[in-house]
Amino acid sequence: MKLAISGKGGVGKTTLSSALAYIFKEHGNKVLAIDADPDANLAGALGFQDLKGLVPISEMKELVAERTGSEPGSYGTFFSFNPKVDDLPDTLAKEVNGIRFMTLGGVKKGGGGCICPESVMLKSIVMNLVLARDEVVILDMEAGLEHLGRAVSTGVDALIVVCEPGQRSLETARVIKKLGGDLRIRRICVVGNKTRGPSDEEFIAGNVDGLEVLGFIPFAESIIEADRKGVAVYENSPEAVEAARGVYERLLNPPAWVPSGSCRPREREIPTPAPAPLTAARAGALLWLAEVSRIRPIR
Ligand SMILES: Nc1ncnc2c1ncn2[C@@H]1O[C@H](COP(=O)(O)OP(=O)(O)O)[C@@H](O)[C@H]1O
Ligand SMILES: [Mg+2]
Repeated sequence: MKLAISGKGGVGKTTLSSALAYIFKEHGNKVLAIDADPDANLAGALGFQDLKGLVPISEMKELVAERTGSEPGSYGTFFSFNPKVDDLPDTLAKEVNGIRFMTLGGVKKGGGGCICPESVMLKSIVMNLVLARDEVVILDMEAGLEHLGRAVSTGVDALIVVCEPGQRSLETARVIKKLGGDLRIRRICVVGNKTRGPSDEEFIAGNVDGLEVLGFIPFAESIIEADRKGVAVYENSPEAVEAARGVYERLLNPPAWVPSGSCRPREREIPTPAPAPLTAARAGALLWLAEVSRIRPIR
């Protein structure tokens, strides 16, 4: 199961990611929780204590340079668009209460889109996690879908948009629905957070443009308190855990009907076409591709 969790800043993406990581682990799964939000706070929500000693991958300059073949901190050199990253989850992930996690960190964005070694590295890691790992991967993301290129999107089982009972976060859900549809994500759904009763729940369900609603997490002091005390959400908040259990059940048991705009998991995988035979022309084209992938990025 590969889950991407998105939504506006502050809506509760990290709270939900950490609670779901706990529930999946509780059901005997190996879980890899990924903080892919530059405004990183997943480690704390999982109960990790040494937050000062945590170095995000984007700040591991030597590693990024080594893997991408770039000069540390340089934006004007040749570098690889296809760095080796498949070993990194096993060597770099930290563990807290049986849940493994990685903090990807942020990339300073230049004008006109960023093509720098750090962003190439992070995108490669996300792609590897979604397409090649066999554990449960939970991606705690930022509001945009930048990490979800087309290849990654088709590998994600569900994109969960967290919403509060307010127009701004619901508008984000509608935008994500549109972007996610273009990216052919299998299932786009909503979790309502910080609800204070049935009218909040109705408000969210009625304003998400037909997206499937997986459940609601009530507004709870115990969640804020976990943040204040620096302990895991799942240790301090029985309300969050109970609500996340409901979300987990609904995720694994989608209803037979499909609300408009939401996609159920594909019943049959699209068969991978057999590789074409390696003719001299194809070998030449592959060599050319390998060559141009070491392009010089625009300053
Ligand atoms: N259901 C809830 N009830 C009360 N406070 C919540 C709830 N969910 C999240 N919070 C609080 O809101 C703040 C933002 O939550 P967080 O999960 O970090 O959001 P995000 O990752 O989307 O930025 C945190 O202080 C958190 O404790
Ligand atoms: Mg967060």
